[in-house]
Formats: sequence, structure tokens, C-alpha cells
Amino acid sequence: APTRVAVRAAHLVDTKAGTVRDNPVVIIEGDHITEVRYDGQVPAGVKVIDLGSATLLPGLIDCHVHLTGDPNEVKGDYYEAVLKRSSIDSAILSPTYAKRTLDAGFTTVRNLGAGDYVDVALRDAINRGDIPGPRMLVSGPPLGATGGHADGTTGFSPWIEFHGIDGVADGVDAIRHRVRENVKHGADVIKYMASAGVLSAEASVGAPQYSQEEMNAIVDEAHRWGKKVAAHAHGAEAIKMAIRAGTDSIEHSSLIDDEGLKLAKQHGTYLDFDVYNDDYILSEYAKKGFPASTIDKEKLVGRLQRENFQRAVKAGEKMAFGTDAGVYPHGWNAKQFAIMSKWGMTPMQAIQAATVNAADLLGMTGKVGQVAPGYYADLVAVNGDPLKDVSQLEHVAFVMKGGDVDRNDIKR
Ligand code: ARG
Repeated sequence: APTRVAVRAAHLVDTKAGTVRDNPVVIIEGDHITEVRYDGQVPAGVKVIDLGSATLLPGLIDCHVHLTGDPNEVKGDYYEAVLKRSSIDSAILSPTYAKRTLDAGFTTVRNLGAGDYVDVALRDAINRGDIPGPRMLVSGPPLGATGGHADGTTGFSPWIEFHGIDGVADGVDAIRHRVRENVKHGADVIKYMASAGVLSAEASVGAPQYSQEEMNAIVDEAHRWGKKVAAHAHGAEAIKMAIRAGTDSIEHSSLIDDEGLKLAKQHGTYLDFDVYNDDYILSEYAKKGFPASTIDKEKLVGRLQRENFQRAVKAGEKMAFGTDAGVYPHGWNAKQFAIMSKWGMTPMQAIQAATVNAADLLGMTGKVGQVAPGYYADLVAVNGDPLKDVSQLEHVAFVMKGGDVDRNDIKR
């Protein structure tokens, strides 16, 4: 029989009920939780991990990361970083980013976009136990229109030949084929670019880049294969088109209007707002040598995105935690909590966005996002009170994934 372990702490955040309970003891067998009791008692013969006065939470979930890249790879010369590196360089660095993410308390992530299926290889290496890292759902190369946000060759001379597997596909037939290719090569989820973006060469930041017919085809095809769909969308029109197509989550959601908020509610669409990014891009990207056009585009969406985040919270939208980490450094994921609470969420709402809501969006309810019997033993603990100050989650001091302790720096 697998050995039983008990994790004891002073408090536990019940993410489903939205309450905090005292004297929790979490009993773990192998990789999952078998019992949660609130009498502080550890059954005889069970090994105890005593976290003293700390507060326990389920492992955190980030619904939007890119573990195959990090802004610190760009050291003053953007084009050097872009033109002198391949996916092999990304593959070499990605385990480091995966470990940083796990160490920060994020035990599950959804990786929304990577060239050459580096994300699939990373996920598989973690699942085999070859390297440490969070549970990963991955998309493979994101679908997008020629010249759009997923087309990394935009802006370069037409004489340069680029190699590698990307997600560029135009027209319904090519799109259906491209979705099937991603499913074939191991994608758990389908990502597509509904609108233009910030960190790409096209002039617009929010204009639709697929027709309604094309978006409908992506979602129809993905759902037939049992895969959920995430759409990158900044602009109001592209957001509405993506929602009408049946997309499961809108990423960025920056310029969503009242009609978009209404549509999202009608369709049960999740909205993910990466509201920390603006701070990092505006303070660091110019120094790192990113093109001025990128920083100018950021200024068009950053502030409005936060205002619209607040409107979405007030409107009672379904919201999950997605940071787009990789745009800012891995391991800093939790910095977004403070922005979410500054712009209208209670700490509990922000925690729920990164636990129960995220699990629902990922189709992983029953496995992650709660501390409850049958769930994976994915736990984090903090010394401070995250319900008073949600930025305490930037200082996670204990991380367990699937019953294995990743780190334990709880002061006792
Ligand atoms: N990956 C996104 C893009 O390039 C990043 C947007 C970051 N800006 C923001 N305000 N959230 O479009």
C-alpha cells in the first residue's frame, strides 16, 4: 500500500465554498488526497508535514503561459534574439522556466502557443517524471492568418526563408487540416489568434484576423476532436466574433465592450485578462531592445484592459487566471493577483480565478483547483494571510505536486 502522508497547517482556503477553515489536516496517499479533516488530528502511523501557522491552498493554476520563452532572453537586441535562435534553444531553456513556475506555486498551467511542438515535448518529459514542472495542457503552434499575430515571419524580407512548424492557416479547409495536425501531434487544447496583437509586427493591435466563417471552423473542428479552444483577442469586434464562434476562453479580452460582456455571459465564455503585463512591458521592453512599435501598441491596450477587467468583474463574468507569463518572467505569475485585487476583485475572487474557475475552464474539475478527496495532492502554503493581502501569494513557501514536495521553506 502507498505510504500515507498528512499535511497539517493552521488554515485552509476552501476555494469551492469561498471560505477559510481552521486546523486542516490533509491526508494523502500516493499522488492524491484521500481525506481532509478539520480537527488538527493526525491518524496514527501517518507521516506528518507540519506547516505550523501557515495557510494552505490548492496548487495554483495559470491558464495562459508560454514556457518556451522568457523576456530575459532579449538582452538589448531584439533581432539577435529572434534571428539567431531556433526551437532547440527554446527547448534547452524551457525546463528552467517550468521549474520556476512550479516553485512559484503554479502546479498546473495551460501553455497557449509554442513553435515546433516544444510544449508537447516539455509536457511529456514532466509527465514521465524526467524533469520537474507543473502539470501542462498544451496547444502546440497557435493557428493564425498569414501576416497576423501567429505569423512570426511578418515584417522580414520576403527573400528570407524561415523553417519550423507554425500554425499559419488560411481558409476553412486549411484551418480544419491545421487543427487536426495539432491534435495528431499531441495538443490538449486549440489556440488561435482572433485579433492582431502587441508583440507582433502588424500595424493594428485589435483588428480581427480571421473571418467569422474561419473562426467557426476552428471551434467546430476542435470540439469534434474533444478539444477546448482559446482565442487571443484584444479588439471588441474580434472578441465578439470569437465568442459567437463558440470559443471556450477569450485571452487578453482587452477592449471588450458591453455587447461582448453580454455575449460572453450568454455563451458561458471564460474571460482571461493578463492585467499584469502592461507594467512589465512599459517599464522593461524598451531597455531590452524590443521595437518601439510594440511599446506604442501596448499603450493602446494596457490601461483600457484594466478598466474593462473591472467592468467584467462588476458584470459577474466567468473569469479565470491567465498571465501570458513568458511576456514577463516565469515565476512571477502571482504578481497578477495584486493587480486583479486593485482593479475590483476580492482576494477570494482572485484566488478562485486561479483555482476552481481555472480548473473548470481546463476541464479538470475533480482533479485540480480544490483541496478535496480524490483531487491530486497539489498544495501550496503561505505564511501570511492571502485573504487580507492577496500579494502574499507572491511568497509561496511550500509547494507539493502530486504528493511530491517540490519545496518547503515554511518558517516554524
Ligand atoms: N501576447 C500579447 C500580445 O502580444 C501580450 C499583450 C500584453 N499586453 C497587455 N496589456 N496585456 O498581444
